[in-house]
Amino acid sequence: MTWVAMQGTFPYFCSQLNNFQMSIQQVAVIGAGTMGNGIAHVFAQNGFSVRLIDVNNAQLEKAIQTITKNLDRQVSKGTLTEDQKKSALSNIQVFNEVNAGVSNAELVVEAATENTALKLKIFQELDSYAPQNCILATNTSSISITKIASATKRPQQVIGMHFMNPVPVMKLVEIINGYATDKKVTAAVVEMTKKLDKIPCVVNDYPGFIANRILMPMINEAIYSLYENVAGVEEIDTVMKLGMAHPMGPLQLADFIGLDVCHSILQVLHQGFGNPKYAPCPLLVNMVTAGKLGVKTGEGFYKYVAGSKDLVVSDQFRVQG
Ligand SMILES: NC(=O)c1ccc[n+]([C@@H]2O[C@H](COP(=O)([O-])OP(=O)(O)OC[C@H]3O[C@@H](n4cnc5c(N)ncnc54)[C@H](O)[C@@H]3O)[C@@H](O)[C@H]2O)c1
Repeated sequence: MTWVAMQGTFPYFCSQLNNFQMSIQQVAVIGAGTMGNGIAHVFAQNGFSVRLIDVNNAQLEKAIQTITKNLDRQVSKGTLTEDQKKSALSNIQVFNEVNAGVSNAELVVEAATENTALKLKIFQELDSYAPQNCILATNTSSISITKIASATKRPQQVIGMHFMNPVPVMKLVEIINGYATDKKVTAAVVEMTKKLDKIPCVVNDYPGFIANRILMPMINEAIYSLYENVAGVEEIDTVMKLGMAHPMGPLQLADFIGLDVCHSILQVLHQGFGNPKYAPCPLLVNMVTAGKLGVKTGEGFYKYVAGSKDLVVSDQFRVQG
């Protein structure tokens, strides 16, 4: 680009960035799965207008049912009124196409399946259809923000917003700066996160960021301990719950996150750092291949029966005796 052309672009570019100071009101959430429905829930509950987008209509229906059920629980606990619940639900509209869903968005939070090729494709689409000053955030657990940003012509407006599961309950949002993320974008996202009654924590873009760089090796080590028969499922989880005051053992947490998600994050860490210490345990690989993904498929290290809160070890790991 010549200097003459740049002279024309620079003031325009700055005025676009200043727009991020304005308060964000219109939000689009891409993906209505485990995380997407929770993210839509917290935005809607805090007065934002939300467009929830998924390619799968059944998933959109299920998401609205889940959000309604979770809001009902808040009403029954007395943390929300019936009117607040109605207002939250009325703030959500569902869409099954990205282009229509993001047409008026000031912020997009992408929470689609953890797959690099898919996310690059979605961000290319977002770059085409989302308004020019719209901030594009991703809830990825581990894929490089810098890489996702490279699929767009506005890498300065791409940022990680890593919500924790379950979103309506967990306070932390890990905010991840990509290599090119503009500081004003980070500031706008930090301010907006506080409006969701969440605590933002800003980190930089290296594999696994902070949360998963530390959590996933612990989960993998717990799976290795089971694989090497050092202890059983309940023993491993009990040591970490009672000994380290963790609210949930690492194997139960892995089931909750989804074993496929854990597996793909470990692969990102393994490839990203080139260090064999991050290689997924063969038992985890086997379980993912066998479709035992944890809570979402009804079985992982534990068995999950609809309506039951009992924690029952999967038959595969029961000690015979
Ligand atoms: N599950 C967790 O505990 C957790 C925690 C933090 C972050 N994350 C991240 O959040 C993201 C979503 O994870 P999840 O567990 O909610 O996954 P999920 O499988 O429950 O849901 C993903 C959804 O994305 C939809 N989708 C796929 N392609 C799409 C497209 N092109 N456009 C719109 N929707 C599309 C699917 O239909 C599905 O409903 C991932 O990046 C994951 O790494 C997950």
